[in-house]
Amino acid sequence: MAVFVVFVGVVLGLCIICTALLRWNEVRYRKKGLPPGTMGWPLFGETTDFLKEGPNFLKNQRATYGSFFKSHILGCPTVVSMDPELNRYILLNEGKGLVPGYPQSMLDILGKCNIAAVHGSAHKKIRGALLNIISPTMIRDHLLLTIDGFMSSHISNWAGKIVDIQEKTKEMALLSSLKQIAGVDADLVSEAFKPEFQKLVLGTISLPINLPGTNYHSGSQARKNIIKLWLDVLQRRRASRGTYQDMLGFLMKTEDPKYKLNDEEIIDQIIAILYSGFETVSTTSMMAVKYLHDHPRALQELREEHLAIRNEKGSKDPITWSDYKSMRFTRAVIYETARLATVVNGVLRKTTQEMELNGYVIPKGWRIYVYTREINYDPILYPEPFTFNPWRWMDKNLDSHSYFMLFGGGGRLCPGKELGIVEISTFLHYFITRYRWEEVGGDELIKFPRVAAPNGLHIKVSKF
Ligand code: HEM
Repeated sequence: MAVFVVFVGVVLGLCIICTALLRWNEVRYRKKGLPPGTMGWPLFGETTDFLKEGPNFLKNQRATYGSFFKSHILGCPTVVSMDPELNRYILLNEGKGLVPGYPQSMLDILGKCNIAAVHGSAHKKIRGALLNIISPTMIRDHLLLTIDGFMSSHISNWAGKIVDIQEKTKEMALLSSLKQIAGVDADLVSEAFKPEFQKLVLGTISLPINLPGTNYHSGSQARKNIIKLWLDVLQRRRASRGTYQDMLGFLMKTEDPKYKLNDEEIIDQIIAILYSGFETVSTTSMMAVKYLHDHPRALQELREEHLAIRNEKGSKDPITWSDYKSMRFTRAVIYETARLATVVNGVLRKTTQEMELNGYVIPKGWRIYVYTREINYDPILYPEPFTFNPWRWMDKNLDSHSYFMLFGGGGRLCPGKELGIVEISTFLHYFITRYRWEEVGGDELIKFPRVAAPNGLHIKVSKF
């Protein structure tokens, strides 16, 4: 009996403490003018619910509080915006104090000259320098040939094997970028670079606790090693006095004072290209392979588009810019894949001053989660939104719709959009003109917080 009373007492006490903590946290954030919503536990907020329930947590909150509500996720008081019009407004108005709001660990590890860390005139300079080396003209005149050569050899000798397409597309995205950046020097750095890059990526999504053994610590170390690696390449190139027609070569020889970068800025640009194009390109490629496997009619139409291009040229001839431009259905497959899989759920902003948004007052320093996922499943924009239907992109100009945000929007619109599409298109070209494939089966796919196959996505490949 006594034990039971003590047990009830402890449970009751815990309930009272929990209620008091929750209540205290709500009161703490009950400033006048804030949007409706809940703040969860002190310090942790609603992070656990957010990560566990993902999109459903946000949809439930929206059902109660509307499309613009407050929460506390990933360590910060945050306003979640699920309103397409407001999302557009936020992305278009960085100048009013709505700057990128990525976590501290990401900013520390990607570097202070990284494009996500700079605003205003510094952003203009970094973005301009970046656009110079990844623009459609640059792709047409220099990068496409490199990408073509890389893809053609990267996916050779797969026939008769079981491959993990997740691992292969990750390798493809990373090594293809390295080749475009460093050309002939890519092979010199890639072995040392790969493990460091993995640590760097993990570090950017960790808590910023700099103690030995933490992902943040090992990510910071990896950043140091990566800088050293690239400084060596810069030094070697300067000593050799050769000319290099790759991204690094162009960055090093830029004389235009508007876009001339010092070594630290050059290395942060390289890291930005490798980091931003890595998961986006690899996941979209993997999911395209998945959806094409599940939709034979789409695969057949895609194959016809690519065989028509291949049959016009010798077996070793590379894809040209005009071949690429003629790949209309391929682009539709890529857009549909990025939409249906929702490779990017949204983007983060933070307020640099207190401001009014949607009739509410958002304090300085709050994060805004511009959550674009739901618009991908809007049945008005995309009838039967959960069906893989690349044809929907063929007849309407869906990609110029004002709520098309697969690549972000406003002044931060993805500068690597065309490059990413070229890489995925070239990968698909060689993959589907050379091979057929069947899924081995039994592999799990998760969609949130990121799209991934935790144990890989295995396919059995045979010659086409
Ligand atoms: C399927 C491929 C891709 C998708 C879906 C994608 C998506 C996005 C999105 C949504 C943003 C906006 C981020 C924000 O507003 O905070 C963005 C920005 C960016 N992307 Fe991409 N991206 C892709 C490929 C690439 C590639 C291949 C590169 C590099 C060559 C790249 C480089 C960047 C950079 C540097 C930014 C930041 C721009 C700025 O802050 O001004 N992306 N991307």
